[in-house]
Amino acid sequence: MSAATPKHPHPDPLPGRERERTVQVLADLPAVARAAAERFVALARDAAAARGRFTVALSGGKTPRSFLQALAGPPYRERFPWGFVHFFQVDERWVPPDDPRSNQRMLRACLVDKGPVPERNFHPVDTSQPDPVEGAKRYEDHLRRFFPDPPGGVPRFDAVFLGLGEDGHTASLFPGSPALGEENAWVTHAVGGSPRTSRVTLTLPVLNAAFRVIFLVSGAGKAGVLRELLLGKGGGGHPAALVAPKRGKVTFLADADAASRIPPAEAAYPGGEGGAG
Ligand code: 6PG
Repeated sequence: MSAATPKHPHPDPLPGRERERTVQVLADLPAVARAAAERFVALARDAAAARGRFTVALSGGKTPRSFLQALAGPPYRERFPWGFVHFFQVDERWVPPDDPRSNQRMLRACLVDKGPVPERNFHPVDTSQPDPVEGAKRYEDHLRRFFPDPPGGVPRFDAVFLGLGEDGHTASLFPGSPALGEENAWVTHAVGGSPRTSRVTLTLPVLNAAFRVIFLVSGAGKAGVLRELLLGKGGGGHPAALVAPKRGKVTFLADADAASRIPPAEAAYPGGEGGAG
């Protein structure tokens, strides 16, 4: 299903912005998960060498689950000391932490409960109080304590893992959402999803400050929106097209179903020549 091109208050991606973007197509979701885990380990090693720690923000939804399960299991689990990796959330639905819809619940289960991540290195959104607007402010306060006075006034995550909705949303930045126009706050309140849920989300200034953004995209249902995002004018006008880090790189890891409408010249296919690999 290709989403109609949504209109939203935020301007199109800045014209002429050079975007270093690679698209890698993998056979299936397990292969996407392994490729994401390999990239995670490589990025963690680089960050540790350069900055002595690795800060990563993770999305929720279904696609990341197999990536996180792979990461928390052999051989990745043994491949580096987890104590220097700090995990944050890209976004959260405003539900209790034990609610099946909770992103934190999924991340905690994969990484902390069953995985190697120490509790002190896991930085979830606190959804225990009723007001998501207040909750966004509190998460931002937590980020400001962890990233005190960052250069440029915005925290630079070493890596941000994003998903892609069939409507072109990413994080909890949905078509037409006022959150798309937020240019100062690091975390903001948003509403969206199906069913519509109150949420909090990192804002575009934070996503676009990252050293590396990695989209994980799986399933035939995403084929239309991924084609529009990668090949359409202005990224099809989708919110995900606004993720264009100023000094970072964007990588798409997509399975064959999701990439079924992307020509080989635009992507690196398994074993093939591929173009933008
Ligand atoms: C959320 C996610 C959201 C997700 C996309 C893709 O809280 O729902 O952060 O942005 O990444 O909706 O979700 P799937 O991976 O489940 O397709």
